[in-house]
Amino acid sequence: MEKPGKRSWAEPYKIKMVELLKMETRPQRIKAIKEAGYNTFLLKSEDVYIDLLTDSGTSAMSDRQWAGIMMGDEAYAGSRNFYHLEKVIQNSYGYKHIIPTHQGRGAENILSQTMIKKGDIIPGNMYFTTTRLHQELAGGKFVDVIIDEAHDPNSEHPFKGNVDFNKLKAVVDKYGAKRIPYVCMATSVNMAGGQPISMQNLKELRAYTSKLGIRVIHDMTRVAENAYFIQQREKGYADKSIREIVKEICSYTDGATMSAKKDALVNIGGFLATNEWSVYEEARNLVVVYEGLHTYGGLAGRDMEAMAIGIGESLSDDHIRARIGQVEYLGHKMMDYGIPIVKPIGGHGIFVDAKAFLPHLTQDQFPAQTLSAEMYIDAGVRTMERGVVSAGRKSNGENYYPKLELVRFTIPRRVYTQAHMDVIAESIYSVYQKRNRIKGLKMVYEPKYLRFFQARFEKLK
Ligand code: F0G
Repeated sequence: MEKPGKRSWAEPYKIKMVELLKMETRPQRIKAIKEAGYNTFLLKSEDVYIDLLTDSGTSAMSDRQWAGIMMGDEAYAGSRNFYHLEKVIQNSYGYKHIIPTHQGRGAENILSQTMIKKGDIIPGNMYFTTTRLHQELAGGKFVDVIIDEAHDPNSEHPFKGNVDFNKLKAVVDKYGAKRIPYVCMATSVNMAGGQPISMQNLKELRAYTSKLGIRVIHDMTRVAENAYFIQQREKGYADKSIREIVKEICSYTDGATMSAKKDALVNIGGFLATNEWSVYEEARNLVVVYEGLHTYGGLAGRDMEAMAIGIGESLSDDHIRARIGQVEYLGHKMMDYGIPIVKPIGGHGIFVDAKAFLPHLTQDQFPAQTLSAEMYIDAGVRTMERGVVSAGRKSNGENYYPKLELVRFTIPRRVYTQAHMDVIAESIYSVYQKRNRIKGLKMVYEPKYLRFFQARFEKLK
């Protein structure tokens, strides 16, 4: 028998409970996706075999988190679970003041209303859908200052989430520092393919913005995943723990918004954090308008307890190695089959380059939306469009045409097995083999905000 080469790793957990899945037939899936207007957001979850729509709120909680659920203190004010959560966030991330929210966009709304005035400019390392919309609704304008490599699916740059200082300086020169309330800095840049920012770049960002009196606000939704890439790729961090790296990242920023539905391993929850008392006071005032009292912010006590425990688990080196290891396993399988994916492989999923996969379709024929629908038809795998549909329209009504036209295969944490990854890779290979025969889509219904959630399409003849 052949001896193993590189030793395998396995998940640092075992399975105590399972959720049974239904497997539909191909004709059933063709009917279901047609009824859903070729939009995977409009499919019924029951009709999906492997759900890679998102890693948001879809992770498996641990037995400890479930035990925490039983320890919910459901008081309207001053719940014990809030104080636990506050302490965990202060200790783990280093931020001083915390306001829980029902999820990330609740925090984005309050942050934007607190900090942005009409006519303000918010530079950021690539947009995120809800983040940019809240900035715009508050009267601000988002300007992308990420490095060019982030927009190139083939660039192997190890830190595609980095800020390009020439772009940032140009924004400061054009508008002046006074019109820039903060730089919106995301760790593990979602729309670029889960790509990290380096510690070096972040330190430079801190130094540059401090001189000008501009804040850095951190979208820390996937900060632990970013920390893993720093540990693996950046000089001087190989011997540091994920916990230490995460804390250092946060130390170069003035506040944060967090969707705890990702890194923090809960099904619902988020928070706003700030080191400034005046920002906290204003935000604490607004949270009661939109979310709930500042000691629960739209969450039950039990949700805050699960989040407090989940944050701790998310910062374990063993957890993050297995989490990203699984994503990389799927990515390497797809690459072996010749599938064009965004490289390097990101933290929370595989992003397939739909322009390269379906080169015969124009961007107005929605290649990523089309491929996403085809993946569902082939094996019941649900993915998400991250291209021209997600990018939406500018305030003047024109379409944004993003360079990246991607289908995201997002991996929930601690949910699927290696065998599921094999099925997904084999399915995309089968779609790839018949790619020349795949026809595009036309949009037949478009909602006003965040159109990707509810838009409907028909197949082109
Ligand atoms: N910021 C980032 C980077 C995100 O990925 C998300 C959500 C949010 C903010 C908003 O948080 O959903 O809790 O309100 N991303 C999900 C996704 C929806 O599928 O990527 P939320």
